[in-house]
Amino acid sequence: MFELVYRSTSKNNINNDDISIILKSSRVFNSKNDITGCLLYHNHEFIQIIEGEEKIVRELYARIEKNPMHDNIILLNESNINSKAFGSWSMAYYQLGSDDIKNIMEMLFINNFVTLADLVDKPTHALKLFWYISKQLLLE
Ligand SMILES: Cc1cc2nc3c(=O)[nH]c(=O)nc-3n(C[C@H](O)[C@H](O)[C@H](O)COP(=O)(O)O)c2cc1C
Repeated sequence: MFELVYRSTSKNNINNDDISIILKSSRVFNSKNDITGCLLYHNHEFIQIIEGEEKIVRELYARIEKNPMHDNIILLNESNINSKAFGSWSMAYYQLGSDDIKNIMEMLFINNFVTLADLVDKPTHALKLFWYISKQLLLE
């Protein structure tokens, strides 16, 4: 088993419909191929952690890199793992309002997410990076 984590910047013109399209096709591909992980999108930044069989994860990452919806992709970490952290999520997805915190629900969400980031097990370097940077993106 293998995991990788990257971050990137979305192109200016992407909207919720684009994200829905990505997620729909992701969930189909990911569940068929035993790929799991988590994608966070906030203030035009993506961070995603992907877990699964190494060859499939690498091929998927190559397709994600080529996707014109984002650029400045930085691979933060990749490593072999013993077990999955997002075993039941074909791709958990978190998004907050466009650029500003619009309402109390979003503040609650951020609070919960940040608490989760602190509490959740982070046995690998990729998971540490994923939760650390996600938290930074949400709090900056
Ligand atoms: C931020 C981001 C995350 C993505 N995550 C996934 C994913 O987890 N699984 C997936 O199958 N495609 C994902 N995609 C879509 C792929 O880039 C690509 O469009 C898809 O794998 C279909 O490949 P193809 O267009 O070469 O057929 C993601 C795209 C972006 C921009």
